[in-house]
Amino acid sequence: MERLSQLAEIGADAERGGTTRPGLSVDEQRACELVAEWCEEEGLAVSWDAASNLIARRPGGRDGIPEVWSGSHLDSVPGGGRFDGALGVLAALEAVAVLGSTPLAAPLAVVAFRDEEGWRFGRGFFGSRAVSGRVTEDELESADADGVRVRDALDELGLEGPPVAGPLPGTFVEVHVEQGPVLERTATGHAVVSSIAGMAGYTATIHGDAGHAGTTPMAGRRDAFLAAAELAIALRDAALVIPGAVVTTGDVRIARPAANVVPGRVELAIDARAPSDDGLQALLDAVEASAAAAASPTGCSVDLDRQWISPPVRMSERVRAALADAAAAAGVAVAELPSGAGHDAGVLAAAGVDAGMLFVRSLNGGVSHRPDELSAEDDVAGAIGVLAGALATLAGAW
Ligand code: HGY
Ligand code: MN
Ligand code: MN
Repeated sequence: MERLSQLAEIGADAERGGTTRPGLSVDEQRACELVAEWCEEEGLAVSWDAASNLIARRPGGRDGIPEVWSGSHLDSVPGGGRFDGALGVLAALEAVAVLGSTPLAAPLAVVAFRDEEGWRFGRGFFGSRAVSGRVTEDELESADADGVRVRDALDELGLEGPPVAGPLPGTFVEVHVEQGPVLERTATGHAVVSSIAGMAGYTATIHGDAGHAGTTPMAGRRDAFLAAAELAIALRDAALVIPGAVVTTGDVRIARPAANVVPGRVELAIDARAPSDDGLQALLDAVEASAAAAASPTGCSVDLDRQWISPPVRMSERVRAALADAAAAAGVAVAELPSGAGHDAGVLAAAGVDAGMLFVRSLNGGVSHRPDELSAEDDVAGAIGVLAGALATLAGAW
């Protein structure tokens, strides 16, 4: 818990509260380096791959068996909480410490994947996608709001070329806060995750006519912000009729914003998710239809560009069983929950890794991506014990 507070100081955001640690930023690097120090103190062999993921290894007893990794991410959203991501990395380190010198067949590794959140460059899960071979050259040209490209950010971290696929582990286990209200409502401290929702990210660029706020008559205006508002409402209405679907327009940028100028061009980020393949497809169809429909009433045109998509993914039965058995052995009650949030575990599962997750109860009504994100120390302790037991099973006795 002390280490979580120490990490939260790196990128502490006095203005918003909480922590702002953008992906591939110097602050994210500093957080990774602090965790690397703690891993070295634990006797782990620290390494960095070409995407600057932190991978700290504990050798196994037998050669040639696929590694067992555990961890999460150390970047945060703007004004994020102490637990999202960081808990998973530190719980992995604590679990390895609990295992001490227990002889295990497979090597273990504590991992911090880079830029999981993705809000800086518009696409997340950078580190876990790089390990899975899903980061292409053209993605390195993506730029943040200040025009800094992924390539420039990597250079600043002292990394050269395109991040290449590293060797994938055989197994990955991620501890993460639930980021929702269910465990608190049902008075349960933990859950084994069954599946991770499908999701897609779009950018909608809306073209209207800029104009003088005072002299442009309302009739005939081509106000790009109004078209954006029509689109956002249409997306909300579409999600409400698709089971479990959610859609968010969390980033709206008016070109040349000014109180006395009619918005001429607006860029909208759309985050669309649904728990099932059919639901996701229905939602994506609705996004396309809503974009087309939003143009006509305001006379604007809408360019819709899908940035990325990841289908719903099921967690590994083998890892789910190892977590459930470890919880039973530790006397820790676990529920079973789907995840509406995306996680690096989902990317690794999609790459064929046996991946699973253990949720820790979120308090304060389950808030997350906010400074007041909170989990209780005894729930954190319980998760470390369950993770240690599961890792021992998954790595195999020796
Ligand atoms: O957006 C997500 O689901 C995760 O927090 N990156
Ligand atoms: Mn997050
Ligand atoms: Mn997270």
